[in-house]
Amino acid sequence: MQTANTLSVLRSAVDGLRAGGGAIALVPTMGALHEGHLTLVREAKRRADHVVASIFVNPRQFGPKEDFRAYPRQFARDAALLEAEGVALLWAPEPSEVYPAGYATNVSVAGASEGLCGADRPGHFDGVATVVLKLFNQVRPDMAFFGEKDWQQLAVIRRMARDLDLTQPHVEAIHAVPVVREADGLAMSSRNAYLSAEQRRAAAALPAAMRGAIAAGATPDAMATLRDRLAGAGFDRVDYAELRDGDSLAPLESAAPCARLFVAARIGGTRLIDNMPLSGE
Ligand code: PAF
Repeated sequence: MQTANTLSVLRSAVDGLRAGGGAIALVPTMGALHEGHLTLVREAKRRADHVVASIFVNPRQFGPKEDFRAYPRQFARDAALLEAEGVALLWAPEPSEVYPAGYATNVSVAGASEGLCGADRPGHFDGVATVVLKLFNQVRPDMAFFGEKDWQQLAVIRRMARDLDLTQPHVEAIHAVPVVREADGLAMSSRNAYLSAEQRRAAAALPAAMRGAIAAGATPDAMATLRDRLAGAGFDRVDYAELRDGDSLAPLESAAPCARLFVAARIGGTRLIDNMPLSGE
């Protein structure tokens, strides 16, 4: 596996892959890799001839009071994991390479960025859209892979790709990969590493309460029970627990076949998010 830290090295490495023929897949990450990320890489390997992974903790998607500095960074371990999965090229730029002095451009996707995490994390999805567009322009992949755990992020990226004509010859497809869960149902996330042993045990209440609410028809009473269960399990706050149309993300008053349940809740200082279709995973 080759590692590129500068754009010029990245471009000649990508040219080298292109010269060999075949499709190039991009798996963008912020590092602190877990099985969810490796599932994206495996899916990318299955569909493309060459996989490029990026590790970049993107400062623009963190709010001023968020965990940019604390975000887990474990580059050597991550690089070894990607190499073992057969990644051809690792793009690991410094922030100054991505946002050089004088950088002034922001990508903002209306609609999909609003509500849910967009309400609690102002500017977050602008940061995501901006960096993902830059990664697409830097790597020029044929396809890219993102996890369904960040469903709203996926909706923002898909909208941006459509609106900005990122389809062929630039990015042929945005592939979504289902949520990967721990044995107790907790969705895998790099932020799970922030949880103490006790919080980690309690965190399993999140998917369990979501499944319970779905089984009870996601009625207003079922949603109230979900909130109570989380409070009872030791969660400090529920940022949102909402039913939305899975495609448009439009709010729904009641359960419908296209509906997904979206929840963000805080335990200790850690904010966990999850989403599930009402039709079952
Ligand atoms: O999902 C993530 O890890 C990040 O939001 C992404 C897509 C790599 C952009 O920084």
